[in-house]
Order: sequence, then structure tokens, then C-alpha cells
Amino acid sequence: MKADIKNICCIGAGYVGGPTMSVIADKCPNININVVDKNSERIDLWNSSNLDSLPIYEPGLDKIIARCRGKNLTFSTKIKENISSADMIFISVNTPTKTKGIGAGQASDLKWVEACAREVAMFATGHTIVVEKSTLPVKTAEVIKNILEASQPNSNECEKKFDVLSNPEFLAEGSAIKDLLEPDRVLIGGESNYAIKALSNIYSNWVPKEKILHTNIWSSELSKLTANAFLAQRISSINSISALCEATGADVREVSRAIGLDSRIGTKFLDSGPGFGGSCFKKDILNLVYLSRFFDLDEVADFWESVVKLNNWHQHRLSKLIIKNLFGTISGKKICILGFSFKANTNDTRESAAIKICKDLLEEGAFLSIHDPKVSKEQIQQDLGLEPLNSDINYSERFDFFNFEEKWVFENSISKAVEKSDAVVVLTEWEEYQKINWEEVSKKMRKPSWIFDTRSILNKKEIINNELLLWRIGDGSNEDRS
Ligand code: UDX
Ligand code: ADP
Repeated sequence: MKADIKNICCIGAGYVGGPTMSVIADKCPNININVVDKNSERIDLWNSSNLDSLPIYEPGLDKIIARCRGKNLTFSTKIKENISSADMIFISVNTPTKTKGIGAGQASDLKWVEACAREVAMFATGHTIVVEKSTLPVKTAEVIKNILEASQPNSNECEKKFDVLSNPEFLAEGSAIKDLLEPDRVLIGGESNYAIKALSNIYSNWVPKEKILHTNIWSSELSKLTANAFLAQRISSINSISALCEATGADVREVSRAIGLDSRIGTKFLDSGPGFGGSCFKKDILNLVYLSRFFDLDEVADFWESVVKLNNWHQHRLSKLIIKNLFGTISGKKICILGFSFKANTNDTRESAAIKICKDLLEEGAFLSIHDPKVSKEQIQQDLGLEPLNSDINYSERFDFFNFEEKWVFENSISKAVEKSDAVVVLTEWEEYQKINWEEVSKKMRKPSWIFDTRSILNKKEIINNELLLWRIGDGSNEDRS
């Protein structure tokens, strides 16, 4: 049995694997860390000499990569070699929701996890600790264990031994490096004391011991799903209240503040917005729903499913509100979308509210000009399933938007994006949108000009003083102009 961990292999160089391994490499200079992925384009980007080309944008990540890459951190497609030399293997592959078959639309598709387990079973040598890092349904460790155990060699072959641990990630995109460096807790679930100690030793290089929790493996897996479900539930709760605020004259910002000061409730995750997105919340709740139904707990399943239903309803509610305020029709109108990522400080668009809202608006005939400081035109094209127009349109005085129905254009500059638009919709809370000069914008838009602030980040006074009509999320003083 290898005494301490010298070589780590991480399978999956994505949003979880990349940042997590970078921080471990930075904090543990004596451990060699090899991140492998079957996607060679992604690996090339991780190895790019231009640090602006890393496949993932996370504040602080580039500096760590500059310090560690080529020393004790490598990125490659050499899956077999790096599995066989590893003492510890992290599985950080994607686990999307199944699109067909049993559990479609709810259960996670474990085919990548299973493929990884088979590769580990085949190529690992000696005693290997396998760590589940991807977010997985409860009892996945059992699947991994079964696959690994089935690979135990005959007695005349060299000995293979596996321990499986669950070590869920709690990192949020945009603050992943900070979350990794200063975690609220590190959760390690498993049975083998040796394996738990080996992984705890790695984290204890920078995480205080009292923040490293040991649980049984099922509690660890379930805690991850539950944490995300609770967070998502708070957002659906406050978004439901925003609709009530708009109807009653209350203000959701005031309500959030008032309830957040109750120390039992707390102030975090109470910002009403365009609905939660990201790769985890919806997927994890649907996993809980699937699991609950599997165990005949229909009431539990219905309870959690309502969190996702409310989120969907809320996103369509915003699309409808935009249409309603623009005199009930948006065909032949230009709407400028500010922000496409699911939240600020990330280029990730998975489950972004922008996708649903833009699709709704396009379907109603709008012409969209979309701006985002980090999301690429190609990504938006993929998400909308629609090719963009070239952005060299000259908006003359008599420009006819009716020829541009259900089309969209990507704009690099906010100033060009707002030109001749009937409405500006802020969907992501990027800092630069808080600094927009509304006097300039007002001069460029068609009148009447609407600003929809779904993140509540804009300066209300400045907008109103510049002859712009403002609709804010959860603001009971929004005028009903329908
Ligand atoms: C989440 C969890 O926070 C993290 O612990 C887990 O490991 C992965 O899932 P992430 O998806 O990166 O992280 O984003 P998060 O910051 O949690 O935000 C999720 C969504 O909720 C975003 O769309 C965000 O805009 C929205 N949100 C968040 C709100 O609408 N209001 C809030 O008050 C907070
Ligand atoms: P996450 O947000 O969970 O990190 P990502 O989709 O960003 O998910 O990254 C997962 C990565 O795992 C992808 O780059 C994908 O190519 C990789 N991957 C999936 N299955 C395998 C496999 N069997 N071997 C190697 N890499 C894999």
C-alpha cells in the first residue's frame, strides 16, 4: 500500500476538474497532478501559452496555471498512462440529465462516469483511491465500486485494490478559486480510514482541520444534492415573492433585507433575478425528484419539483412582461439583451435564463442584439440554435426592423448594441452594466425606450431622469403601461 499520495490523476478537465486540480497543485507542490480529458481541443486550450485562452474563465485561475503548469500540473489526453501511475484518481466528468430512456428529463446520465470507472478498472495499478468529484446521484459510489471490484484480477496477476470516496465540490462559478481556497467545509464520505486520511491530508495543507468533515458515503452524496436544492429553493422562494411585490406595491429588495436580517434566515441567496441557471441547480433537484419517486416518496418529489416549476414559470413571466410593456407586440422591434451567461464573472451559459427569455422573444418576432463581455457569439448561436446576422448593420433613420424579425446579432460594444433599440433587457449582473451612461443610451434608443432590469443592479434615478421607462424585478412601483 502506497503510504502517501504522490501522483494524482483527474479525469475531466472541465469547470470542476480544472480549477480544483490547479488549487491542489498550487497548495501541494510535492504532488504531481495530471489532468486528463478525451477532448483534445479542450486540453490544447489548457496548455495554451496565452492565458486568456484557457477554456474556463475564473478570476485568479490564470495566475495559478502560470505558477504550476509544467511543474507539478499537466494537462493531456494520456488517460491510460496517467491512470496507471496514479495513487489517487478524481472523477470529474460531466453528468448531464438523461434525455431518453428510464428517468429521461430527471435522472443523471452516468454513462461518462461508468466509462471512467471502466478505464480506471482496466489501467490502474496497485492500491488506488478513486474520488467521486462530479455531482452524482446518491448510490453512484456503489456503481463505481461494483465496476472496480468486477475488475479484480486473478491471483497470479499483480494486485489491484480500490477505495472509493465521495468528495463533492461546492464551488460556485466565478468564485471557484476563492471557494476552493477558503471553503466553508470539505466533505469526505467513505469507509476506508486510510483513504479518508490520505485525502484529508491533501486538503489540510490549506484548509483548517475542523472544516474537513467525514461522513458515510451516502450522506456525502446526498448532502451535495441537498445543499444545491436548498440554495435553489431560496431563489425560487424570493422570485415568487417578487411577483407578489409587483402586484401589491411592495418592493422585493426591502422584503429581502427585512427577512435576511433574521439570523435564522440569513442574507445570502435572497436576490431576486431572472431565475436560477447553471449546470447544477436544476440537475441536482431533478435528481432528488427522481430519487424520491424511486423510493415511493411522491410528496417529497412534488415538493422539490415545484422549485424547478416555479423557476420555469418565472422566466416565461419575464418574457411576457417585456412583451406586455412593449404594447403587447415585439415583432418589428429591436430588443437589446445585456448579458447571456447564467450569472456574472463566468462565460458559462448552461441553463442560463437568457436562453429561455431570448428564445421566447425571438419566437414573438423580435430582433435581438446580444452583448456579453465573456460569452462568445458561437456559444450563443449553439444555445439559441440560430445563426446570427453580421453585426455591420447600419441603423439609418428609416431602418425597417420588420425585415429582421426572429433574427439576432452579436455586438461587442454596448453602445452599438443599444442603437435604435426599443428596449434594453439586463439579464446578467456584469459590473460594466452598472456603469452604463444612460444619458448616452437614451439618445441612441427609439422612443418610447424601455429598460428592463431583471437583476436590480441599475441606478433607478439616473434612468428615469433620462427619459427612459424602467421596469425592475419585484418593484411594486413599476407603472403598468399596458
Ligand atoms: C452552485 C452552488 O452555489 C455551488 O455550491 C455548487 O457547487 C454548484 O452550483 P453556481 O451554479 O456556480 O454554483 O452558481 P450560484 O452562484 O450558486 O448561482 C446559481 C444561480 O442562482 C445563478 O443563475 C444566479 O444568478 C442565481 N442566483 C444566485 C440568484 O438569482 N439570486 C441569488 O441571490 C443567488
Ligand atoms: P463539469 O462542470 O462537471 O466540470 P464539464 O462538462 O465542464 O463538466 O467537464 C467534464 C469533462 O469531462 C469534459 O471536458 C469531457 O470531455 C470530460 N470527459 C467525459 N468523459 C470522459 C472520459 N471517459 N475520459 C476523459 N474525459 C472525459
